[in-house]
Amino acid sequence: MAAFLRRGFLWLLSVTLLLADVDSTENTFYTAGVVEYRPTIMGSSSDQLLEANLAGYLEIMASGNGTTDIIVFPEATLNSVVTLTAVPEWTKESLCEEQVGDDPEIAPFLRSLACAAREYSTYLVVNVKERVPEQCTSDETCSSRGYSIHNTNVVFDRQGAVISRYRKWNLYLEPSTNRTESPEMATFTTDFNVTFGHFICFDMLFYTPAQDLVEQLGIRHVIVTKMFNSELPFLTASQFQQGWAWANRVNLLASGGSLPQGGISGSGIYAGQQGALARLMITDALEGERKLLLARVPLNPEEPIATDEILEPERTTPVKLKLLQQPELSNFATWELPMVRGSSVDKRICQEDLCCQFRVTWTPMEAQQEYNYRLGVWVGQRRYEEEQYSAIRLCGLFACRGSTVESCGLVSEEQEHLQGHRVVFTQLEILGEFVRRPRRLLMPSTLSSSSLYALQPSQLAWSMEELDSVTRIKMELRQPHSQLMTFAIYGNYFDEYASGGAGRLGALLFLLITPLIMSYLFRE
Ligand SMILES: *[C@@H]1O[C@H](CO)[C@@H](O)[C@H](O)[C@H]1NC(C)=O
Ligand SMILES: *[C@@H]1O[C@H](CO)[C@@H](O)[C@H](O)[C@H]1NC(C)=O
Ligand SMILES: *[C@@H]1O[C@H](CO)[C@@H](O)[C@H](O)[C@H]1NC(C)=O
Repeated sequence: MAAFLRRGFLWLLSVTLLLADVDSTENTFYTAGVVEYRPTIMGSSSDQLLEANLAGYLEIMASGNGTTDIIVFPEATLNSVVTLTAVPEWTKESLCEEQVGDDPEIAPFLRSLACAAREYSTYLVVNVKERVPEQCTSDETCSSRGYSIHNTNVVFDRQGAVISRYRKWNLYLEPSTNRTESPEMATFTTDFNVTFGHFICFDMLFYTPAQDLVEQLGIRHVIVTKMFNSELPFLTASQFQQGWAWANRVNLLASGGSLPQGGISGSGIYAGQQGALARLMITDALEGERKLLLARVPLNPEEPIATDEILEPERTTPVKLKLLQQPELSNFATWELPMVRGSSVDKRICQEDLCCQFRVTWTPMEAQQEYNYRLGVWVGQRRYEEEQYSAIRLCGLFACRGSTVESCGLVSEEQEHLQGHRVVFTQLEILGEFVRRPRRLLMPSTLSSSSLYALQPSQLAWSMEELDSVTRIKMELRQPHSQLMTFAIYGNYFDEYASGGAGRLGALLFLLITPLIMSYLFRE
């Protein structure tokens, strides 16, 4: 109340005395839109699919009524490898004008989007499959195709001129797509004085170029176009987006493809440690959605936002989204929480160079629960679907469908009668000591089981302290929670094992030997 009165007074003061000041408070935000987009992928020719998706894009842009300063569409939801387009690196004028961009390979759909950017006077980010003619110096360097294909973000300004282009560096199961010779660092500056960096989906799991943009270039506003396969318990789409923005203390505009039957959904607008301003995960349907999410984003991600925090829905809906599962769970050091009313524990769990201290108080509300819970610590290397790896150090609490560790990260889909049979956590604190490394990112990884959204700042406290050889992270639940799925500290140590020749060999040996040692050690 006092704060309200004070704010009211200050407001009055600023209106009566400092009109210019009112203007400047208005200018501390920009309006961003990210699109969760269900692509048309079946039913007709490639040209017709492209046409249908373009029409969907234009319809969504129209629905914004010109209110956005910037709007972002997801990865791989527009054209395909048989409906390629050239993409100029930049153009002086709008690509809406036929004579601009002197290249017959620039497809009409790209020009239509430039016209839409101009019509709604908005910056526009789209992702396309790009055709690039090969520069053939000798027969060896030329493929039979005669051109290469890139997975490319294109950015238009409010007139429809191309102001930035980025070709994906970390490809994920994209056999027909080429990589650039070296990674690109793509940025652009807007008329509202914000410099954005942008990249694509899988890039977010690696240091280059995502962390380079943040750490080397000091970028505070990041755009990512996505088509992301969610994985429980630590890497579902919105959870990861929110954790990444939190850890980097940046604004993140994430636009995702919407194909829940294929495990893909998740978009949002996040403001650093202020959490999600808008977000959408389609978890309760097999059919995706087409939706424009809007938010007023602070120019400074650290500047407190006046609007009410959005929370996850209370109501739990059965999860239909197809989810991957963390592949290394059986190698975690874990401890299962006994389901006894009014339990409390103070426990230290270690694996290799990571020790975490857990203080937990919990009580099951019914005799039988929807989920069991484990505390766990893991230091190891993981593989993604591609031959790409990250060294991971993590510790936390996570939900399990049954009493085995292999059942952690499985949703309780067949147990609908148990819905609402919850465990209430009244105290939950993790203290982790993570070894310091120059290239790593320590993120909160949290998830509520009601709809697979991350915890918001009113629910989560996070602090970091740098000591000589370790970073001490303290993560705490700020209020009781009865629908926890994940509450963890997730450390991505990027290429700790995989960089360089020796590193690669080490990684290979690690991969070959670890399962052998593990199976020997844990033989029952
Ligand atoms: C755009 O205008 C329509 C019709 O006036 C309205 O229903 C809709 O909410 C508006 N959208 C935005 C984003 O302002
Ligand atoms: C692009 O990728 C294709 C398919 O993998 C390959 O045949 C071709 O040589 C690549 N082109 C370049 C320039 O690397
Ligand atoms: C633009 O932003 C920079 C730093 O991000 C700041 O130094 C500069 O004063 C700003 N310019 C305007 C016109 O607001």
